[in-house]
Formats: sequence, C-alpha cells, structure tokens
Amino acid sequence: MSSSTAGLVIPCKAAVAWEAGKPLVIEIVEVAPPQAMEVRIKVKYTSLCHTDLYFWEAKGQTPLFPRIFGHEASGIVESVGEGVRDLKEGDHVLPVFTGECGECGHCKSEESNMCDLLRINTDRGVMLSDGKSRFSINGTPISHFLGTSTFSEYTVVHAGCLAKINPLAPLDKVCILSCGISTGLGATLNVAKPKKGSTVAVFGLGAVGLAAAEGARIAGASRIIGIDLNPSRFEEARKFGINEFVNPKDHDRPVQEVIAEITHGGVDRSIECTGNINAMISAFECVHDGWGVAVLVGVPNKDAVFMTKPINVLNERTLKGTFFGNYKPRTDLPSVVDMYMSKKLQLEKFITHQLPFSEINKAFEYMLKGEGLRCIINMEE
Ligand SMILES: NC(=O)c1ccc[n+]([C@@H]2O[C@H](COP(=O)([O-])OP(=O)(O)OC[C@H]3O[C@@H](n4cnc5c(N)ncnc54)[C@H](O)[C@@H]3O)[C@@H](O)[C@H]2O)c1
Ligand SMILES: [Zn+2]
Ligand SMILES: [Zn+2]
Repeated sequence: MSSSTAGLVIPCKAAVAWEAGKPLVIEIVEVAPPQAMEVRIKVKYTSLCHTDLYFWEAKGQTPLFPRIFGHEASGIVESVGEGVRDLKEGDHVLPVFTGECGECGHCKSEESNMCDLLRINTDRGVMLSDGKSRFSINGTPISHFLGTSTFSEYTVVHAGCLAKINPLAPLDKVCILSCGISTGLGATLNVAKPKKGSTVAVFGLGAVGLAAAEGARIAGASRIIGIDLNPSRFEEARKFGINEFVNPKDHDRPVQEVIAEITHGGVDRSIECTGNINAMISAFECVHDGWGVAVLVGVPNKDAVFMTKPINVLNERTLKGTFFGNYKPRTDLPSVVDMYMSKKLQLEKFITHQLPFSEINKAFEYMLKGEGLRCIINMEE
C-alpha cells in the first residue's frame, strides 16, 4: 500500500530564507513528488549546524536565495520515485549532505566517501536528475540546500543521500548523527586515528569539536586539549573529557607555540572544527614533527588560503581534511546509530536546546551567540 499523498504535490510549512542574514519566514510551500531515484520524506526533527549558518549569512560563501536550509535531520519516508529499490514508505532515515551512489570509483574504494555523483555541493540549489527544484511558492522555485533542505515538513532527497536506520532509534536524538556528531566522531576515529595514550588537540568546542573529542576518548587518548575563543565553551567541554583548555586570546603569541610548549613539542593529533583559517593553520602547526597528523573539518570562507612554511611538512607532519568524518552515509551511518543504541556513544549531552518549528529563528540566535551545542527543532510543534 502506498501513502495517500504519493504522486501528489504536498503543500506544507517550510522555513524559507528570502535574503542573506534575515530571519527565516514560515511559508506554505508546494513540494513536488519525487522523481527517478528520489525519495520524499516527512522530516520529524531537524537541528542547526554551523554550515547552515555560514550559507545563510553568505558572508564568505556564494549567496543563493530564496532557499530552504537545513541538513541535520531525521525523518520517515513518505513516497519513493521510480527506480528506488532499497527504501519504502515508513522507513526511518537520516538525510546526509553527501551521498553514496554505490557505483563510482569513490563508492567502491574503501578509503573514500567522496562519491562522484552525490558528493557535497554547496552551490547547487536544484535536483540532479532534471536540474529543477522540488519546492515552489505560487510557481516561484525555491532553492534546495546540500540536497537535503530539512527546514521543511516534507523534502525531496536523492535516494543515495539517505541512510536507512534502526526503526527503534529515537529520531529526536539520532537526528544529530546526520551531520555534526558523525562528522566530528569520524574525523577522529576514521581520519586522525589517535593511538591509545596519545595527546589530541581539538580546535573549536561546538558540537562537531566535542564529537571529535568524544572520538578521542573512545580511542583511548590520555590528554585532550580544547582550544576555543569563547571561554563559556570550557564548562560544557568538561563533560566530554576535555580538561585542559587554551584560549588563543589569553596569549600574545601564536597558540601553536603555546600548545607545543605544554606538550613538549606538539600534540600527536589535532582536529580543527572552527571554519577559521587561522585556527586551521594553528591546528596544523601544533602537531608534533615526525608523526603528528592534523585533520581539517571546518568549512572555510570560499576565498581562504592555507599558508604554512613547507619545512613544517618536510618535518614529517601530515595534513588531512574530511567531509562527514569519512563515513559512507548509507553503508556506515547505521552502525553509528547502533553505537548510540548500545550506549557506546552518548548523544543527550550534545542536546542543549529544544524548539518548536515555529521558533526556528531562535536556534540561529543561540548559535550566533555561541550558546549551547545542538538545538533540536520539532517539526510537528
Ligand atoms: N567537514 C564536514 O563534513 C563538516 C560537517 C559539519 C560541520 N562542519 C563545520 O565544522 C565547523 C564547526 O561546526 P559546529 O556546528 O560545531 O559550529 P559551532 O559554531 O557550534 O562551533 C564552532 C566553535 O569554534 C569556535 N571558534 C571559532 N573561531 C575560532 C578560532 N579562531 N579559534 C578557536 N576556536 C574558534 C567558536 O567559538 C565555536 O565554539 C563549522 O565550520 C562547520 O561548517 C564541517
Ligand atoms: Zn552540518
Ligand atoms: Zn558514488
């Protein structure tokens, strides 16, 4: 049996960004049915990640408006388009900003999650199959964001960008695994790979950075050093096993020098989760020569340039970067959900706020003020 809305346009509420930096407006949008290889989902919960904020502010990013933001969410399949075999109405899913077609060289490689077809594309505002949007208001198309656009009661997503998860997993918790928490966790566990007993520095103590710290704790790091410009982050960070803090503002020399001093030459691993170019350079230069590995996670300003002296690399330091913590969304995300279900990974401590959909703009204010970690937005309130 298929849902009563399958094949029909669904009018529903969506939070539309009409202009850069202006409050979102809840509008009635029309959501077209899913086309070939697409799935329409009912979004149950969504949260705000800093990447939404950057593209909404559009200060150092390409502006594209009107647009429906949102990419960290959980939902239930409403209907599927032609050719979709492994998802059906009622399945519980997490949409992911980067996909997995299963066919390309990247999807077939054990090392990569950078799918040729469905990798992150921040500038595209349309669906791949026909170059059109599935959202409109009185015939005016509204752009998609990251192929997910979860600030809408219904959204259309490519089937390759949906991870089918355990139906028993609480959607109001696991929604944060759809971006930030998996990204930080995977950046440490899959990319930085600290050895037991090592020292790890985490730049930026928002949800992504604290998830990276959680990865360091799980990997058995003995020292986790947190770096942030906002001292109010330090209290929260203690719950994540970080008990040494460095605020770059407290020092009149580069923070990498301070870190090298307190660690006798540098950290074994560092993970950058700020999006700030200077923090990226510091994160690289604070790793120990001979073996140190730095991983960049933050999304930079589009014109930012990474500068360091080549001797820093010659001295056997490694610089890496990752999207979505190197997890393949469809293959790997269900097992991250299971880490939560088996209590190996805690999600509750990342959730500091809850809001009804009607008050979504407050979530932007919290993040702009650097207040709290993740805010869960209930789409049905
Ligand atoms: N690569 C990926 O796949 C991926 C996925 C999700 C998020 N991101 C990016 O990760 C970053 C973190 O996201 P979030 O949601 O945790 O954001 P957040 O705003 O909650 O946290 C960012 C933290 O960085 C701190 N910070 C900013 N500049 C700093 C600097 N120069 N030095 C030290 N600390 C600094 C802020 O005070 C804040 O506490 C963002 O850039 C986001 O776009 C990347
Ligand atoms: Zn994100
Ligand atoms: Zn692929």
